[in-house]
Amino acid sequence: GSVVEMHVGAVVNAANESLLGGGGVDGAIHRAAGHKLLEECRTLGGCKTGDSKITKAYDIIWADHIIHTVGPVYSGSDSDVELLGSCYRQSLDLAAENGCLSIAFPCISTGVYGYPIEKAAKVALLAVSMWMNEHPETMIEVYFCCYRDEEMEAYKELLGK
Ligand code: APR
Repeated sequence: GSVVEMHVGAVVNAANESLLGGGGVDGAIHRAAGHKLLEECRTLGGCKTGDSKITKAYDIIWADHIIHTVGPVYSGSDSDVELLGSCYRQSLDLAAENGCLSIAFPCISTGVYGYPIEKAAKVALLAVSMWMNEHPETMIEVYFCCYRDEEMEAYKELLGK
């Protein structure tokens, strides 16, 4: 389903380095959150690929925060894995620092940025499980929002369901 409909502490946005909106998830989040989100984003000075920044959720009243992260444009090199993993880890860091008890991720980089979903899902699951192992004291519920059938299939395959 859509990440915008999740009732969570933090909804993650697959943004671009400008943080000023776009299509896909980014467009859906900005439309739902309203113009105040764009106003706050303008104050953030952009975001590097692999990094994350946090804002309020504004008109998305069933979420507390939006965490904007910038995935890599898929290139087929090792840096893709590093940068995509960093998106998940930094988003979890921000969620934990801000007291979020739950977080909902879309499939970062698997739309316009061209990351193959099977590879991206593997990186996402590994990065999140490593983060959880490194933070045993932090209780945070993690949702992977599968929007297209092929996203659901990729996650089910990896989780053996
Ligand atoms: N909720 C959850 N997932 C969604 C939604 C939604 N509302 N809309 C699209 N998706 C899925 C797509 O199916 C895709 O697999 O999110 C995944 C990521 O797609 P994009 O939104 O295109 O994100 P990304 O590939 O990371 O590209 C980022 O797109 O418009 C922009 O501003 C954004 O330039 C940036 C680029």
